[in-house]
Amino acid sequence: MAKALKKNNPKKELRVDGERLYKALHDLGEVGAYKDESTGIVGVNRLALSEADGAGRRKVVSWMKELGLSVSVDQIGNVYAERRGETDLPPVMMGSHIDSVPTAGRFDGCLGVLGALEVMRTLSESGLTTKRPLVAAFFTEEEGCRFGTDMLGSAVATGRIPLEAAYALKDAQGLTVKGELEKTGFLGPEAVGRRKPHAYLECHIEQGPSLRHDGFEIGVVTGVQAISWQELTIVGKSAHAGTTPMEFRKDAGVAAARINLKLREMIASGMFGKGMRATMGVNRPHPGMVNVVPGRVVCTVDLRHPEDGFMEEVERELVAFYKQVEKDEGVSISWRQTARTAMAPFSDEVQSVVEGAANELGLSNTPILSGAGHDAQEWSRACKTAMVFVPGEYDGISHNPREFSTLKQCADGVNVLLGAALTLTED
Ligand code: GLV
Ligand code: MN
Ligand code: MN
Repeated sequence: MAKALKKNNPKKELRVDGERLYKALHDLGEVGAYKDESTGIVGVNRLALSEADGAGRRKVVSWMKELGLSVSVDQIGNVYAERRGETDLPPVMMGSHIDSVPTAGRFDGCLGVLGALEVMRTLSESGLTTKRPLVAAFFTEEEGCRFGTDMLGSAVATGRIPLEAAYALKDAQGLTVKGELEKTGFLGPEAVGRRKPHAYLECHIEQGPSLRHDGFEIGVVTGVQAISWQELTIVGKSAHAGTTPMEFRKDAGVAAARINLKLREMIASGMFGKGMRATMGVNRPHPGMVNVVPGRVVCTVDLRHPEDGFMEEVERELVAFYKQVEKDEGVSISWRQTARTAMAPFSDEVQSVVEGAANELGLSNTPILSGAGHDAQEWSRACKTAMVFVPGEYDGISHNPREFSTLKQCADGVNVLLGAALTLTED
């Protein structure tokens, strides 16, 4: 049970209920659950604005309403639940996302949303009111797996992506964001851009091995590295695999393979600074038959870099390489940028507040740069922002059904979220 232990300083002694938080993560994880064929492990598939995401959204909204919070939905389907404060000063917002990649675990995003709700529950149980209001929020299509660009809801709410451009985005079946918002019942009336929080906090699993490996209980997130996504269409010439001499071929599959290897070579060269990461996560040959030379490939490139200057160099080098591949392989390559965010540094002040909250709880902590994209990077343009990371088991594997953080790891993170939120609400 969450308790206020000391009458003279009840807020400092508050602790969230880890069992209740973990049960909520489990219950939400049932929505969109599926069994991974290769491992038999149960994962989550809750692609943004799918039926499962709609069901997950309704579940979380019902929990928000049970807590007596006032819930509103904005024009891009972001959901905000507000707990009144003693004043009408701008609120402290806590949030994340509940949409998932198609092969997810139960923690990515959900910890931040259900953690924010657990903070609200803990405060309600103890009968405490904060000076500023508190908001628990979840944002639409953080993953970018369905409509092609990540942090969509928070990017629209904070002005990086225009609403109409977001509405027009299509999934692989040609269904639009606007249509799917209508279908799921989350095309809300609240004007985007209306929210101007005092501060934004997000608790999230690290999604990597560092905290666990280095023995830290909490990561104080310093910012999010730059992200660049491209979608490429490579057109060559489809032909018979047995009869077409090699010198007659225009093999789009070979062109894609060369680009993928080029990414590795660029990293190995050491010429693009430290920390460059690159992934070709989609590679769809057409027609995709054992005995047909691929005439067309649609593939993606995901680039990450902690330094904006190096990211630009990487992008320039790649585009020049596409020209080389066109020449060498006799193919044509067209590409479009589907997502692009610069390195997003977080507020020193809010990082100190997070660090202070972790220290207060006796939790070992370290500064850490986020490798993954997060809604917090969008809110960091609108208000002072930082994040709390918790470690993950199995080398912090994520975007995978094996993603796992223990009850203690989750509760620690949300206790830090609570402590930090309480400090910021008194500002
Ligand atoms: C978000 O999950 C990302 O791709 O970084
Ligand atoms: Mn996430
Ligand atoms: Mn994710």
